[in-house]
Amino acid sequence: MKSAQIRQKFLDFFEAKGHTIVPSFSLVPDNDPTTLFTSSGMQPMVPYLLGQEHPLGRRIVDSQRCFRAVDIEEVGDSRHTTFFEMLGNWSFGDYFKKEQLTWLYEFLTKELQIDSDKLYVTCFGGDNQFKLPKDTESYAIWKELGVPEERISFYGGEKNWWNRGKTGPATTPIGDPCGPDSEVFYEFSDIAHNPKFGEECHVNCDCGRYVEIANSVFMEYLKQDETTFVPLAQKNVDFGGGLERIAMAVNNEADIFKAVEVLEAIIKELERLGANASVDYLANNFPLRIIADHIRAAVFMIQDGIVPSNKEAGYVLRRLIRRSALQLHQLQIKDLVVWKNLVGIIAEHYGDLYPELISNRNGNLEILLAEVNKFNETLEKGLKEITKVEQLDGKLAFKLYETYGFPFELTEEIARERGQAVEYGVFRAEFKKHQTLSRQNSKSKFGGHGLILDTGELKAGDEIELKKATRLHTATHLLQASLRKVLGENIQQRGSDINADRLRFDFSFERKLTDEEKERVEMNVNHFIKEGLKVTKQEMSYDEAIKSGALAFFKQKYPERVTVYTIATNSGEIISKELCGGPHIDNSSKLGSFEIKKEESVGAGVRRIKAVLQ
Ligand code: ALA
Repeated sequence: MKSAQIRQKFLDFFEAKGHTIVPSFSLVPDNDPTTLFTSSGMQPMVPYLLGQEHPLGRRIVDSQRCFRAVDIEEVGDSRHTTFFEMLGNWSFGDYFKKEQLTWLYEFLTKELQIDSDKLYVTCFGGDNQFKLPKDTESYAIWKELGVPEERISFYGGEKNWWNRGKTGPATTPIGDPCGPDSEVFYEFSDIAHNPKFGEECHVNCDCGRYVEIANSVFMEYLKQDETTFVPLAQKNVDFGGGLERIAMAVNNEADIFKAVEVLEAIIKELERLGANASVDYLANNFPLRIIADHIRAAVFMIQDGIVPSNKEAGYVLRRLIRRSALQLHQLQIKDLVVWKNLVGIIAEHYGDLYPELISNRNGNLEILLAEVNKFNETLEKGLKEITKVEQLDGKLAFKLYETYGFPFELTEEIARERGQAVEYGVFRAEFKKHQTLSRQNSKSKFGGHGLILDTGELKAGDEIELKKATRLHTATHLLQASLRKVLGENIQQRGSDINADRLRFDFSFERKLTDEEKERVEMNVNHFIKEGLKVTKQEMSYDEAIKSGALAFFKQKYPERVTVYTIATNSGEIISKELCGGPHIDNSSKLGSFEIKKEESVGAGVRRIKAVLQ
């Protein structure tokens, strides 16, 4: 069965159960600072899970295009892709566990005819620390549906709990909806367990024998503070199932690149274009999978308005294109017609659902090719540099990588041709050293809060994210200074949290700010920015710092010696002086334009401002 048919069956099935079909949201989230990409169907639905009324009712169904940057490095095996479609159905305070599990089971086993003997399910095992009960209700429903006891298991912690970001009760962001979930796995009985993944195989083992195909989340909680979960006003269902993985189960095909028609077609075309260099899937499955996955993801990103760049989503896109270009280079598929043909195949396969992929085919191709050409220049520069060097090694490989973006794999290949060796271990160690340095900066800066972006993006865009967060950090100091100016010197910091996209600042104040006050605070910050204030750093003893009038955040324990950041005008007037680990931008003129997005209460006498830099 083709994945296009499975998608249609899913939409029809839930439409018949009273759901309204809605189109997919963009890969670029509209209003969600926690992530660069839409990576699950629920992200755009958060307001409705929290109680806002959905204009189309309480039952919704869709197929959401998703991208998971964390999986970039995983691509190459039989089942990981970065881009995928997530089939989703939602109950916003309408039906709950019984209907959801019953319908899902009916859909999988009757509608799609998946062999029920191959299905395994898991339920939430409870969590003592957070006083969250074991989900015996779902267990009982599965049993009643006919799933044998020995194929139902309980898992706790992050496995059977869902929220945005890193899943698990401990890592659920405060203020987010969340809840226990129940997953369905399909067993590929022909795949033998690989002991590399652990002594014994089990449903959550990563060896590939069991693949998760469906996840019903029972979103009934809100994380109120670090340790407390309170019931939401409504009990919701958030279901997500990867279309491509369901296609694997339906076709009992353990290789996603064979189970999904568009991926298979791309690989066939690559084999055809690489025939002279004897490219074939059996011998080259790793690079072919990377190319197929990455180019599909890249086309969808470009269609959603992302362009290759050095920051954020654009950086991830750049990485996808360059990784594919490198693999093509190594497979000796050098004719640029490959890009045109693959964009064509993708447009053709998704044309019914996304006609814009057809009408924008040439424009999308142009953006891809511009990046490919840039990459090829990088290759040339690096190659030229390499010819000047007699002995290649891991350290040099890193230097080339750092300076020109020249890929390690190529240095390695050239070294091999010359009968030399570059050790990956050495390259990696240099890379890690570099990474640790920037991480250390980030730790001191965020006081342990860390960024909420997922780790894959962090790896990719570390530097960039840090720079953005650094600017927001400086903006936070200016915000505090403005608040003191507008609302009075007695306001005090109560908390602060910064990620790459926004700042959040909590402070003591009795009432809601008026619109005029908010405007004045915002204008003040922008005025400070325009003035090009210098930011300087000094080290001194804690007592000295306090005596000099530097602001401290009293919830925090400071060491004896502290750093103080001062922001001042050219004539020496001090705008802000705070005890702070930094780092900061050296001049306020680099911040861009400051905008308050939200002002709200977070408890008695404490207000919260969320703001961004444009
Ligand atoms: N939100 C759930 C997931 O992505 C359904 O797995």
